[in-house]
Amino acid sequence: MSTTAPEAQHRDADHLSDPEWWRQAAVYQIYPRSFADADGDGIGDLPGITSKVGYLRELGIDAVWLSPFYPSALADGGYDVDDYRDVDPRLGTLADFDDMVTALHAAGIRLIVDIVPNHSSDRHEWFREALTSEPGSPARNRYIFRDGKGEHGELPPSDWDSVFGGPAWERITEPDGTPGQWYFHLFAKEQPDFNWDNPEVREDFLKTLRFWSDRGVDGFRVDVAHGMVKDFSEPMPSKADLQALNTGTDGFVDGSHPFWDRDAVHEIYAEWRAVFNEYSPARTAVAEAWVHPDRRARYASPEGLGQAFNFDLLQADFRAEDFREIITKNLAEAAASGASSTWVFSNHDVVRHATRYGLPESGPADSGAIMANAGKSWLLDGGDPAVVDAALGLRRARAATQLMLALPGSSYLYQGEELGLQEVGQIPDAERQDPSFFRNPGVEIGRDGCRVPLPWTSSGSSFGFGAGGSHLPQPQWFAEHSVQAEEADEDSTLNFYRKALALRAELQGAEDLEWLPTEEPSVLAFRRPGGWISVTNFGDAPATLPEGEVLLSSGPLEGHSLPGATTAWLRA
Ligand code: BGC
Repeated sequence: MSTTAPEAQHRDADHLSDPEWWRQAAVYQIYPRSFADADGDGIGDLPGITSKVGYLRELGIDAVWLSPFYPSALADGGYDVDDYRDVDPRLGTLADFDDMVTALHAAGIRLIVDIVPNHSSDRHEWFREALTSEPGSPARNRYIFRDGKGEHGELPPSDWDSVFGGPAWERITEPDGTPGQWYFHLFAKEQPDFNWDNPEVREDFLKTLRFWSDRGVDGFRVDVAHGMVKDFSEPMPSKADLQALNTGTDGFVDGSHPFWDRDAVHEIYAEWRAVFNEYSPARTAVAEAWVHPDRRARYASPEGLGQAFNFDLLQADFRAEDFREIITKNLAEAAASGASSTWVFSNHDVVRHATRYGLPESGPADSGAIMANAGKSWLLDGGDPAVVDAALGLRRARAATQLMLALPGSSYLYQGEELGLQEVGQIPDAERQDPSFFRNPGVEIGRDGCRVPLPWTSSGSSFGFGAGGSHLPQPQWFAEHSVQAEEADEDSTLNFYRKALALRAELQGAEDLEWLPTEEPSVLAFRRPGGWISVTNFGDAPATLPEGEVLLSSGPLEGHSLPGATTAWLRA
């Protein structure tokens, strides 16, 4: 296929000046270490991304969200940042970054970068300075250091656990060699939390936002956006007290938790908003905030970050009534905050949706280190692909994705889902990289299975990912899902995504949705402005399609009826 497919041609430079572009964008997440490796060191890099801009353009996305590419020891896949204003030398240079931005923009594609404000890495120069400075020094005050409890300070300041398992406090050795203070880390011990009460920390992040905005970045994905502000005044509650603050699956409702979702976090985002608005078009942001739905609107408000992720569909079963309820609730919520909604089925933290939907039991989602989602028990049981009905999983995944792409708001896609990739369940322990696997033996398998480098060709070294192998092992079955194989197959998932994204760009109008009555409760149908109708059959038996011209379906139709686990778009 040519890289100048007619459907891609509307994405020109003019398209980039629209200040509202983010409201209904199709955003493609790139996990840079696993996308494309230009220098053959086994790790994907920025020149690799630049070399694939034609592919991204032809896919038909509006923006790329780039997971961290900053210098990092990879204690948490790059979410442990050594330097916020540089590029990891294994991934390239700042000049490579500029080249990538230029190439993406020339193709009409915007760039959102991940920003990780809750914690740095333990190799950040500020943290190294803190370790060699005295307790109570300004250098220590950029992080959260406390004296330990017990006669000799040998006990942590509280009994809290980190998100990845194990204690949330780590004891250091003081410069004079004696056992010393403890620092707080919500995630791995290599990820010390910043002290956001410190104006120096705030200033430095404003500098970082301007640094990347000046380089042409269009927006930011804000990691752990609900975690930065803390109140650790004594007496600190116990772990059991914290449990009591948790209202269940929905999160915390009143801002009283010592580290999650405190109201003062919005003062930070008001400052960030002022920086975003210094640019034209204003820079955008999307919050990763695991908060009670009632509190999500503040993150998404125009005075705050502007948009917040909603992971509700990601955590839902493939069931019509659940989808309908989630969509209705989130559209109302987004409208109330002035934002548009966000939708997502897969990302770098969860089991791929083609696999989740093919598991025998689609019972309640398994809870895990980062987010609850089905598939973790399967991974813990060995991740055997034979247990997964891959064909059904993919069929449902395509139907769900096509439904998502018809919704008002922005859709976030994760690299490789356009190839219909399944989760790689079986990775030898010795080759795993995710800290949640090592910190939580027997409880977490970790997130490596969705981070395996992409297959570009059907044969050759690392299936075309790069000349130097792949930093996580790729299974043989990647061959049939390679870009090369799927380009040659008219009915492939890749060609389905291309068609769906091109049509979406053409059909997307005002952010309204009208539910249509259906004969079967397992069928959802809605109309978008301009006569665009989306119908999804969540059941097994074929359903009647409304009258109209079928524009696209996620699987073959049976005459004018819609088979199970299939979505169709019609013009009526
Ligand atoms: C990111 C994870 C990361 C964590 C800590 C999350 O929300 O998506 O990949 O491990 O933040 O930075």
